[in-house]
Amino acid sequence: GKYDFGLIGLGVMGRNFILNVADNGFSAFGYDLDQEKVAALKEEGGHEAKVNASTNIKTFVQALKQPRKIMLLVPAGKIVDSVIESLLPHIDRGDIIIDGGNSFFTDTDRREAYLHDKAINFFGAGVSGGAKGARLGPSIMPGGSKSAYQHIKPIFEAVSAKYKGEPCVAYLGPKSSGNYVKMVHNGIEYGLMQLTSEVYDLLKKAGNFSNEEMHDTFSKWNQGRLQSFLVEITSKILEQKDELGADKGHLVDQILDKAKQKGTGKWTSQNAMDLGIPVPSIDIAVSMREISALKAERTEAEKLYGRPEVAILDKEELAKLTEEALYFSFIITYAQGLHQLADASREYKYDLDIATIAKIWRAGCIIRAGLLADITEAFEADKDLPNLLLSPNFVEKIKGTVTSARTLVAHAAKNGIPMPGLTNSLTYFDAYTSSRLPLNLIQAQRDFFGSHTYERLDQEGIFHTEWE
Ligand code: 6PG
Repeated sequence: GKYDFGLIGLGVMGRNFILNVADNGFSAFGYDLDQEKVAALKEEGGHEAKVNASTNIKTFVQALKQPRKIMLLVPAGKIVDSVIESLLPHIDRGDIIIDGGNSFFTDTDRREAYLHDKAINFFGAGVSGGAKGARLGPSIMPGGSKSAYQHIKPIFEAVSAKYKGEPCVAYLGPKSSGNYVKMVHNGIEYGLMQLTSEVYDLLKKAGNFSNEEMHDTFSKWNQGRLQSFLVEITSKILEQKDELGADKGHLVDQILDKAKQKGTGKWTSQNAMDLGIPVPSIDIAVSMREISALKAERTEAEKLYGRPEVAILDKEELAKLTEEALYFSFIITYAQGLHQLADASREYKYDLDIATIAKIWRAGCIIRAGLLADITEAFEADKDLPNLLLSPNFVEKIKGTVTSARTLVAHAAKNGIPMPGLTNSLTYFDAYTSSRLPLNLIQAQRDFFGSHTYERLDQEGIFHTEWE
């Protein structure tokens, strides 16, 4: 018989995803140019009627049930276009192509329009959860044709992660909405990772915590309101022993402090700027990866300027402060990302439901966290909530933790420990919650040197002054 699902790109993600599909009662056929990958999948898939694969595109397409459901798990960029071109001579009207990679959303819009003209349904579906997620249950963020979604829904719901039985996948909206949501997911991911690394730094430098103590601290946090994938893996990372080095210490201490990036965090920041939505906790996370790359310059600069001596705080007190500050800044980071999504939804006519997005992030994805259950509730209570900070559900959570964020930002600043994620989160909070900001002066300056005009508090209209 023919196969339920087709998958192109049998790298780690593709292979794992296809095995996941097969585990959930659907038959799946893979395609890759690499004969070894095809052979490996056939071997691992076991039963030929459940999992099969080929290096021949025609064999692959002809093996699939119509309408064909063909998912691409290939690197974002030109490869996606060339795979689409290679499929076109073989597929039929009504077939469905799903791009599961981190494609830039305007590329998805272009491909969707191109394929729409050929009566092919195209989905951009972000998949989060890494290799393990693909195998055991990722969070999937599909956008595209609503009617065509019915064909892929049963498979996606079966393979996705489950949060208390609810699948972590949902139809999100038309066109590139799925890729856009995944992009912002990654922006939030960058922000949370930056914040976690700052807290690690602070515990180490301002509390003399050992790796074991930090492992204990993070795993304890993971039992509480900070419960999240990133806190969980941080605790695991901190206990990993080094096998390779001479001193057999902890692996984390031997890892070069230069963070790489593939672009999704940067795109989130860039597009937030285009929309005019502030996401400083994400922006700074991108900047810090850039600063980290300047290792040689940093080393030279440290020789020139030195580092201040750090005043050590009581361990228990510091752990309490950092838990609160991390919780505070996690909330602020989600708030910024979701604010961007709400605005993008209007700008690009995605018609996103933020509660649905928070819901499908509760399990499977990299930013899954206990907090997302609260965030879901906040947006279920008010689906037009402009910003999470305006939710009555969040006021006490923020009020109860902001003081610790202030204490730590001050301590870090005084002692020369860079905490830009926490600082930006706090600054964002202070600015967002100030009814009066000093930007009146900026308006005056603009009018002073450029006659750019200003508005007044007490009268309607546009004003200009001949400044003395
Ligand atoms: C996910 C991740 C994943 C991303 C990596 C690497 O949700 O599973 O976001 O899609 O590729 O996190 O991203 P960087 O290389 O940019 O750090």
